[in-house]
Amino acid sequence: MIRPRESTLARAKRMAFRGRWIGRGLLVAGLLLWAGAVVPAEASDPAKARERILHLRAEIARHDELYFKHAAPEISDAAYDTLKRELHGLEAEHPDLLDGAGPAGLGDDRSGRFPVYRHRVPMTGLDKSYSEAELRAFHARVVRRADGVEPELVVEPKYDGLALGVTYESGRLVRAVTRGNGTEGDDVTANARMIAALPRELRSTAVRPWPEVVEVRGEVYLTYGELARINAEREQAGEPPLAHPRNVAAGTLKLSDPAEVGARRLAVVFYGLGACEPETARPESQGDLLATLAAWGLPVPQESRVVRGWAELQTAVAALGRARGRLDFPTDGVVVKVNERRWQQALGVGAQTPRWAIAHKFAPARVETRLRGITIQVGRTGLLTPVAELEPVKIAGATIARASLHNRAEIARKDIRVGDVVRVEKAGEIIPMIVGVNLARRPAEAAPYGFPTACPACGTETVGVDGEAAVRCPNADCPAQVRRRLEHFASKSGVDIHGLGPAWVDLLVTHGAVRRPGDLYRLQRDDWLALGRKGGLAAERLPAAVERSKQAELWRFIQGLGIPRIGEAGARRLARRFDRLEALAGASPGEWAEAGLGPAAVTALAEYFSEPANRALVADLQAAGIKPRTESAPEQGPLAGKIFVLTGSLPQWTRLQAADKIRAAGGLVREAVSRRTDYVVAGEGAGEKLAEARRLGVAVLDESELRALLNEDPAP
Ligand code: IVH
Repeated sequence: MIRPRESTLARAKRMAFRGRWIGRGLLVAGLLLWAGAVVPAEASDPAKARERILHLRAEIARHDELYFKHAAPEISDAAYDTLKRELHGLEAEHPDLLDGAGPAGLGDDRSGRFPVYRHRVPMTGLDKSYSEAELRAFHARVVRRADGVEPELVVEPKYDGLALGVTYESGRLVRAVTRGNGTEGDDVTANARMIAALPRELRSTAVRPWPEVVEVRGEVYLTYGELARINAEREQAGEPPLAHPRNVAAGTLKLSDPAEVGARRLAVVFYGLGACEPETARPESQGDLLATLAAWGLPVPQESRVVRGWAELQTAVAALGRARGRLDFPTDGVVVKVNERRWQQALGVGAQTPRWAIAHKFAPARVETRLRGITIQVGRTGLLTPVAELEPVKIAGATIARASLHNRAEIARKDIRVGDVVRVEKAGEIIPMIVGVNLARRPAEAAPYGFPTACPACGTETVGVDGEAAVRCPNADCPAQVRRRLEHFASKSGVDIHGLGPAWVDLLVTHGAVRRPGDLYRLQRDDWLALGRKGGLAAERLPAAVERSKQAELWRFIQGLGIPRIGEAGARRLARRFDRLEALAGASPGEWAEAGLGPAAVTALAEYFSEPANRALVADLQAAGIKPRTESAPEQGPLAGKIFVLTGSLPQWTRLQAADKIRAAGGLVREAVSRRTDYVVAGEGAGEKLAEARRLGVAVLDESELRALLNEDPAP
């Protein structure tokens, strides 16, 4: 994994995050996670227990704030659950100590950046269970309250996302509000409208007509597939991958620009009901509710099961636990609900949470394995990334042999040594993390890891970055950096020279034939053939492929430069605004911003082109005779570069009129829906294209939403 240069702010944030995480991660992992079964000394001493309870509550509240408000947790979900579990245990043991301090809160996701909306029916959370014993106790309570009968239970996956309440009036979507503090939440209606799977109108059937006012409740989340797509884009842009789908979902739903929300394909699922008018329309059971929501056209959990009795419950929970690795959505447990409403009512609601449901959390997948070695990768920008070489081990269905160790500071804080048995964990996030070391199994000879002070590729003394957390090789001519830059330039994300992969790059650099991309275009056919013979590589087709790439699209050259934070979307925008690389290199930040880039990308461009070597590289490419192809597209306007597909008949505009307006605003109108499509504008009678949009998760707009994007007045 290559971690290139980032903007100072992003870097500072990332490092601050990582730094604190590591410090606390070590503490939490070391003291709590792995001593989970040990009863803390405080349990028996009331004064100490009280102190500990207060401390845990404060810590949990702080982590809730980081998680809910900033979508930027410092500790892993598993470490958080461990804190909760300990608090839970202490509170159960000392109910007398609960005076006034109140139980741990629900969290609060209000951000201050959206209007707040007061829920008509409070949006509570659920009690949690962290062990089979706790789940069994829940089941026993339910049976006791139901006078000894075995009420049916529904087992659903617990989606790991952000809770959302969506209100429909007369079947039309009018409002979407996050949970907030349970009483009031952020009104994120405009953003929620960008979620492709969220219908603007409910379907009504004779059997299940929609109530006049109905608030459906569910979870906004990100599929692993979409996270992979976003990360592929980020990788192209030289940005570190995002690990936690939940945080991406939460962060996305709280973006200030709905169009950006549409660019990340959020998913949504519904499993509950808030306000309902008339009340008589409320379904009689959870099973009936899910069927009703589905009939209205809303997505519902596909894996829900109705069970009766402890044995069936246990089996269903275990089955979902096993299925977890195969599901495309992040889930950290199951939610068990009493099915019938009459029994739900009999059980009632406790201080904050209903007594008829419980969220049972899975233990995170966690294994131990030996750290065989640490290798250091040198990235395109010289950043040294340590990689853990592990004894291959299976975790959550996949075998892993490597894991990123992020940077020097992370290794030091966790005191990870070669030869150690390390704990690898995979929870809600997709990338396995090394959460700590099993000190009991540390070999006597294991020595603290000495991070190299010289670049392993060129021997240049490294320099500290990010307040010394990470280190970089400052030598722009470092052969490792030169290789990575050339590989990137020639790759599919760059000018796409077929056949010019890492083996060829290695050969070219080793023989001093190529140092900068421009050099590729100066080699003659005979040079290629001679080099090919030396390295035992096929050279026949390369000269033509290299020649062809001179006419690659301009955006490919831009992306091929490997400017931090400029991925394909940014490169395409820049290619529409500037017709030559030199014009791009010589432009002002204002002009880059005009191309539709955000401040972070503009800063990255400024940093990049302030380096004389980078400007020289552009001039050299030009001198080598490249002839990039430019796209003739309108460059400006509120929809600059956005790709639209129109389908069905719109209420006021003809499709032709709508297409003209989109083009005038800088957008592009295409016939077929693909992953590149930004929006599908659908009217009455929309069929295949709308279905395809839904399938691909492309944002769907109606005419009034298109008018809003175009800053036009709403239709009369
Ligand atoms: S039911 C009163 N069902 O988990 C019942 N919640 O820890 C309200 N969640 O606040 C919630 N999947 O944000 C329910 N299948 C599911 C769920 C689910 C995820 C979330 C939800 C809830 C939290 C409770």
